[in-house]
Amino acid sequence: MRPAARAIYLDWNATTPPHPEVLAAMQAAAEVAWANPASVHGPGRRARAFVEQAREAVARLTGFDARDVVLTSGGTEANNLALCHAFGEAGTPAAAAGEAGTPASRQPQGALVVSRIEHPSVTRAAEALAARGVHVAWVDPEPSGRVAPEAIAAAVDRAAAVAPVRLVSLQAVNHETGVVQPIAEAAAIVHARGARLHVDAVQAVGRLPPEAWVGADLVSVAAHKIRGPKGIGALAVRPGIRLRPVLLGGAQERGLRPGTQDPLAAAGFAVAALRAISAPARYAALAPLRDRLEAELVEVGRAAGAAPIRNGDEVRAPHVTNLSWPGWRGDELCAALDLEGVAVSSGSACSAGTAEPSPVLTAMLGPERAASAVRFSIGEDTTEADLIEAARRVARVLSRLRSFPAGS
Ligand SMILES: Cc1ncc(COP(=O)(O)O)c(C=O)c1O
Repeated sequence: MRPAARAIYLDWNATTPPHPEVLAAMQAAAEVAWANPASVHGPGRRARAFVEQAREAVARLTGFDARDVVLTSGGTEANNLALCHAFGEAGTPAAAAGEAGTPASRQPQGALVVSRIEHPSVTRAAEALAARGVHVAWVDPEPSGRVAPEAIAAAVDRAAAVAPVRLVSLQAVNHETGVVQPIAEAAAIVHARGARLHVDAVQAVGRLPPEAWVGADLVSVAAHKIRGPKGIGALAVRPGIRLRPVLLGGAQERGLRPGTQDPLAAAGFAVAALRAISAPARYAALAPLRDRLEAELVEVGRAAGAAPIRNGDEVRAPHVTNLSWPGWRGDELCAALDLEGVAVSSGSACSAGTAEPSPVLTAMLGPERAASAVRFSIGEDTTEADLIEAARRVARVLSRLRSFPAGS
């Protein structure tokens, strides 16, 4: 039997390996911070200190005040909290949609403008709000993967004719293509029209400097994308914005996010968020590596008779490339590469396992381009040797699969 190939992890957009300093902090916290952070006694206060350290660190990372940071279970919950705050009573959008069943017949309770290339935690929440009677205006991306500021302005103006626009949601960096969105321009447009801007910065923090979410009124982050633990994230909110809880329960997070906080996760998040402040410089240095990988992949694709086409023809974050391989299926390529020890993905991790091609790439370039796409995302620990070896394994996969055309 052939020995297992050295594992090469090129899926840093799905999640990042926890940093050793993060793991050490969590291990140390485990010894002293097992108590309930809401308890007023000494052990509780010791646990609470880790929660507050995470809040402070997120505040420094995002440029908000610690008093305006709500800790959540991750990016998904932060996005739901952000979208729901602008529309009506407490309760999950899903539950509310179930109550309403069909679109409400009453007057729209305000309007939401959202791009079609957001993460499902935004698009699904928007769909649920629509089912509950919120007027939702969808903004199409350009084929390049960018959401044009003019398209946002037009959508806000269109929506305003139906109901007052309360919120616009636009991600800072696309999770699949790495395309950087024009947040500053969007903020100017949105604020000039009296609405608020929510920025899903889950793929931007720790990779790009704070200009990437400048002007945002609400900012979502997730610890596991910045080498922190899973199951914790945050929503940072401009002062004066009143959030409404999505979950109902106790007084944790000032009642905005009931449920016992995890001091161990918070300890890891604090270290990860502080590291992430200086990480953009390290990520910028990855751009030549990413470009080298792209060039190698085009070369091996060409040699196999199917040169890949890049998805995302715009300013991109420095560590992502998304390529479509005409005549091949992205999910099959990913599965074959997995057998070769190369971890990549054909869509966002949360859509993996579904037969649907990526909604992001479908909105940009149509279903065929989406079905043949593979995303490679690298990170701080990726070496040039990893990329050269990965390209070699891609060449091996292409030559092995060549005799089995897509879909056969
Ligand atoms: C852009 C974006 N937003 C939100 C999320 C959801 O974050 P979490 O996995 O912490 O729920 C992700 C995760 O892939 C993401 O890429």
